Amino acid sequence: MLNNLAICELLHIDYPIIQGGMAWLGTAELVSAVSNAGGLGTIGSGDAPTEWLREQIKQTRERTDRPFAVNIMMMSPFLADNLKLVVEEKVGILTFGGGNPGVYLAGLKEAGVKVMPVVSSVALARRLERLGADAVIAEGMESGGHVGETTTMALVPQVAGNLKVPAIAAGGIADGRGLVAALALGAQGVQMGTRFICSEECIAHPRFKEQILQANDRATIVTGAPTGHPVRCLENKLTYKFTALEKAGASNEELEELGRGKLSLGIMQGNIEEGSLMAGQIAGLIKEIKPVRAIIQDVMAEAEQIIDAMGKYKAKG
Ligand SMILES: Cc1cc2nc3c(=O)[nH]c(=O)nc-3n(C[C@H](O)[C@H](O)[C@H](O)COP(=O)(O)O)c2cc1C
Repeated sequence: MLNNLAICELLHIDYPIIQGGMAWLGTAELVSAVSNAGGLGTIGSGDAPTEWLREQIKQTRERTDRPFAVNIMMMSPFLADNLKLVVEEKVGILTFGGGNPGVYLAGLKEAGVKVMPVVSSVALARRLERLGADAVIAEGMESGGHVGETTTMALVPQVAGNLKVPAIAAGGIADGRGLVAALALGAQGVQMGTRFICSEECIAHPRFKEQILQANDRATIVTGAPTGHPVRCLENKLTYKFTALEKAGASNEELEELGRGKLSLGIMQGNIEEGSLMAGQIAGLIKEIKPVRAIIQDVMAEAEQIIDAMGKYKAKG
């Protein structure tokens, strides 16, 4: 069984599978389902206010007594208050997205919070390890949402090889093959986002889930690079508008204005043309909406089968 990994011990979970904190979608329903199934669920606080986060922590605790995490985006307008709340509420595990949380690490460590920042470079991973990160989530540019520039395949072995703390691989992973590949690259586990959107428990709009099921390997595109906040989404009318504006040399203000409010329009209200449909390149592999428990069990079973079968590559004699 693949349960003797350092990350399982560190987080007190059964399986090395983390549900990535996703703005709007990382709610108590999904988070508790993942944690109850033996993985680590993550509340995605995105740019939601502190009261929303307080309520989600409460509801998650009503649904599970297993460990779960909170994800905080560095660009959240409620960053300071949400961090305070995580400490007050004694949520033991925090992940950070969208930047460098270095200045907060010492305080969080002192408060006994385990911190796992999302990184897209070796330099940032090393800096955050020095500052006390308990693990890092190395996220490649295949992933849904905000992205860096390096692929998971290239990033994970370089991050894992340069750190003493565990690395978790994210970006482009949706099945047992992805988990085994991540372990082979030196990771201790995986974080998945897009795969968990197509779960029964995720509150995403059914039309958004359907778009993921219909996607192929080339269905996503990265927009927003000129603003310094590149984002991977399913291609639609909105991304065409973005690309056209970017080509025309639009200002950051114009681009930011076009993006305002579009994530909830797409993923919650189901406006699949005008809204933003953040999803990763692995969308093309996802063909079925399943209960969270089945997703996790299937990933684990497939990974174990592959590891057993790989014995055949060993040289004989
Ligand atoms: C709809 C959506 C919203 C996301 N929101 C966040 C977020 O708020 N904070 C964060 O750190 N990562 C966010 N992510 C990234 C995921 O947590 C995860 O790392 C990523 O989806 C992994 O790649 P995959 O989609 O290929 O599985 C988001 C991803 C998606 C698809």
